[in-house]
Amino acid sequence: MIPTHRPRRNRKSEVIRNMVQETTLSVHDFIYPAFLIEGQNQQLEIHSMPGIHRFSADRLIDEIGRCVELGIKSFAPFPSINDGLKDRLAKESANPEGLYLKTVADIKRQFPDIVLMTDVAMDPYSSDGHDGIVDADSGEILNDASLEVLGQMALAQARAGADIIGPSDMMDGRVAWIRDILDQNGFSHVSIMSYTAKYASAFYGPFRDALDSAPKRGDKKTYQMNYANRREALRELALDEQEGADMVMIKPALSYLDVIHEVRTNTHLPVTAYNVSGEYAMVKSAAQQGWLDGEKTMMEVLMSIKRAGADAILTYFAKEAAAVLHRG
Ligand code: PBG
Repeated sequence: MIPTHRPRRNRKSEVIRNMVQETTLSVHDFIYPAFLIEGQNQQLEIHSMPGIHRFSADRLIDEIGRCVELGIKSFAPFPSINDGLKDRLAKESANPEGLYLKTVADIKRQFPDIVLMTDVAMDPYSSDGHDGIVDADSGEILNDASLEVLGQMALAQARAGADIIGPSDMMDGRVAWIRDILDQNGFSHVSIMSYTAKYASAFYGPFRDALDSAPKRGDKKTYQMNYANRREALRELALDEQEGADMVMIKPALSYLDVIHEVRTNTHLPVTAYNVSGEYAMVKSAAQQGWLDGEKTMMEVLMSIKRAGADAILTYFAKEAAAVLHRG
């Protein structure tokens, strides 16, 4: 029997393949995470993330300028704080004169039209390296006490000019808490992109190296999600919606495409995904060995995240992928 149905007809030329393509990738989809360090004229490559640097504020501003030329308009800076400024309560996180908030304000002054998403979690500023307050005796991460710190952090970021607040801490009730503080203080226009389903993942390794933010003891499993769970992501989604999140995020992305899809089909909110440091490192290291075509793999990874249901992607590939899309 010769086949009567021939799906290959829709693949027979590039024009037809493009015509029937279901998913597209655009530079508008990208949010570029960036690492900020103290000092001037500093640009240090992160060993486990080839092509990604930790920049001093002046260099970060130059880098943002180069990205804007490529059409990237959204950025998510993360600070690397000197150890001497870290304490149990992450006090430096609300210091308007500190590295992070001063730089956020500077960036917004230089580029008023870009979108800055700031990170809310205690780990970059915590002497314990956790996202919340650690009880000195029990080692427990204290949820409700942490909300106070996270709320002040978010408010300080809004004052510095953040467009989107990104709580990555996974404390219960933080979206409602932050929404309330923002609204009470005249920042009802500031958005919240919640890290809705953030899993306790080994894929964060290179990020923790970059910021020197690994927990000093214990792990993050009492607040980040168990990677065996999918239904639990829907529970977090329902809470974030109730609490007033504007956008929801799944993190990591690549091992969690099923979760992205599940969240996509269960919400009307925009869905984003964080293509994390370890996912970047895997592709880069294989490409450096000559074991994978780095550029093609990158585009396939990014497209798969969109196909799964993400509207936007936080990715360290943003600049490289924008250059590829530019080339056409
Ligand atoms: C912590 C935070 C982490 C990342 C973003 N914010 C790591 C962690 O939870 O330890 C990871 C991002 C990445 O790996 O690219 N608040």
